[in-house]
Amino acid sequence: MTTLDLRDLAGTTAVVTGAASGIGAAVARRAADLGMRVVLADLDAEGLERVAAELAGADVLTVRCDVTDPADVDRLAAATADRFGPVRLLVNNAGIERTGRLWELDPDRFERLLAVNVSGVFHGIRSFVPRMLADGGEAIIVNTASVGAVTTMPAQAAYVASKHAALALTECLAVELAEVDAPIRVAAFLPGPVHTDIYAKAEASGDAGDALRARMRDYLRDRGVTPAAAADALFDGLASGEFWIFTDRERADELLKARADKLTGHLPPV
Ligand SMILES: NC(=O)c1ccc[n+]([C@@H]2O[C@H](COP(=O)([O-])OP(=O)(O)OC[C@H]3O[C@@H](n4cnc5c(N)ncnc54)[C@H](O)[C@@H]3O)[C@@H](O)[C@H]2O)c1
Repeated sequence: MTTLDLRDLAGTTAVVTGAASGIGAAVARRAADLGMRVVLADLDAEGLERVAAELAGADVLTVRCDVTDPADVDRLAAATADRFGPVRLLVNNAGIERTGRLWELDPDRFERLLAVNVSGVFHGIRSFVPRMLADGGEAIIVNTASVGAVTTMPAQAAYVASKHAALALTECLAVELAEVDAPIRVAAFLPGPVHTDIYAKAEASGDAGDALRARMRDYLRDRGVTPAAAADALFDGLASGEFWIFTDRERADELLKARADKLTGHLPPV
């Protein structure tokens, strides 16, 4: 485990996808507070400008980018390199939620969710890693999964499946980079509930999807940590050299243990 003095990040470059709101915006703020140059990438151009305006004083580049489009993410990497040079921290964070029982989900919604939450992470890796390897310097890649990556839940199967996949990509990436002795560290960020608008924006299918969306929206409001606290947890995890980074370690440990018990005990889902 390689620890990191966060002060060493000053003057280096962070790229954050999904930076126009919620956790991504908070991570961008924290990066700017640490003196990093920050590239804010998102589909939401207005949101990007709002966050950039808050960061006045920091060195910021906004790039409207759809992480599902490989060419767009290539353009993001090129624009970052042109403006700031090598990337020290890439946070593949953009994500969406669609609720509903599997057989009630519209196929387009299902595909879109996987495109953002899984392919979006892949495109971030594909566009940035070759540049990082060529630059040769130290870098960190964080993929935002979720505690949903180690659990299963009805009426959000698409989301849960996407987060299991994002975690698997992240673990594979860490091993692949270690195999080639790259000075690139990888971390999996698995937030628990964070008070953002992700469920307010979620498209729901069927009664179960509607009910879950409403319940989760209230749950995040009542029980979620703030996006700023989530960003703090992320940077604390980076400082202590963790691969697994949680917003609520105790709760995450319960979920991990439950998952491990289920798998090693050959227990069925309940
Ligand atoms: N809020 C939570 O409780 C929670 C918990 C665990 C994991 N997460 C994960 O954290 C990440 C951020 O979620 P959030 O809660 O801050 O939600 P959010 O909706 O506030 O932020 C997500 C951002 O991603 C952007 N985005 C969506 N599709 C995009 C695309 N195709 N290309 C580029 N940007 C796109 C949105 O415009 C938005 O700004 C997601 O990956 C989410 O799954 C959230």
